[in-house]
Amino acid sequence: MLLIVSCGGGSGGTPANPCVGVTITVTGTITNASAVGMSNGSIVASASGGSGFTFSFNGGAFQASGNFTGLAAGTYTIAAKNSSGCTGSQSFTVNNNDPCASVSFTVGGTVVTATPCVNPANGSITVTTTGGGSGFTYNINGGAFQASATFTSLAVNTYTMGAKESGGCLKTANVTVSATPPGTLFSAVRAIISNNCTAGGCHSGAAPAGGIDFTIDCNIVANKARIKVRAVDNFGTPQQMPPPPNPGLSLADRTAIVNWINAGGLYSN
Ligand code: HEM
Repeated sequence: MLLIVSCGGGSGGTPANPCVGVTITVTGTITNASAVGMSNGSIVASASGGSGFTFSFNGGAFQASGNFTGLAAGTYTIAAKNSSGCTGSQSFTVNNNDPCASVSFTVGGTVVTATPCVNPANGSITVTTTGGGSGFTYNINGGAFQASATFTSLAVNTYTMGAKESGGCLKTANVTVSATPPGTLFSAVRAIISNNCTAGGCHSGAAPAGGIDFTIDCNIVANKARIKVRAVDNFGTPQQMPPPPNPGLSLADRTAIVNWINAGGLYSN
């Protein structure tokens, strides 16, 4: 684009306008930004129509170099001025490259299941990538990117895991954290309570005894200490569970409760 700036030119002492008949043409080489959100594009501008050119970027101060770097996608105006003060300008559009055009990889995840009834949740996902790419950062459910590929404290759910390599190529995959299956010791205790809670008014239904519904697994885990006190330690006393006149638990059942608690008293034990 030609922009003619008048700098004078009449007889009678008015200095001649050095820009009459001068065409300043600005050209340039554009390097696109490597990906959306990256500010690594550039424009290398040059000009014809004189000498001693200086260059300005978006109306800013003129500088000797025509190189403008660190650009995000967008349209910019570069002006050139020759040693006589004649100027011309050109607008340039920097685009985003498709960062995935030159790299190929797939995303997956190594899962550690989440144990029910544990707070905070203890599931985790370690993002994996297969194929090319390097300098990865990772995110979960579209959140901020981090250097570590491991995301912890995850509950049972499906998560969108992202891996972004150094050039900006982002790929995602849905990864499911499932529940840790019930452990054998816990399963035995759950069965003991269920088998010994057959009488009306026991620990289920709309008005569970003591306000504790033992058909909810996490109530068993949360009340393990009281279960031991009432069903094991209080065995043979009026405070035993099941309460008299119901018979107390068998020795094998009481031992099973103790074994579970000694193993950690978790759903997964
Ligand atoms: C016939 C079966 C059962 C009946 C009718 C029954 C009834 C009750 C009642 C009325 C309470 C509240 C009053 C109290 O604390 O004494 C209670 C609390 C409780 N029961 Fe049972 N129960 C039965 C079986 C069991 C079994 C099999 C277990 C566990 C092995 C159990 C564990 C508990 C615990 C942990 C409490 C909470 C009280 C505390 O924290 O001390 N119960 N039960």
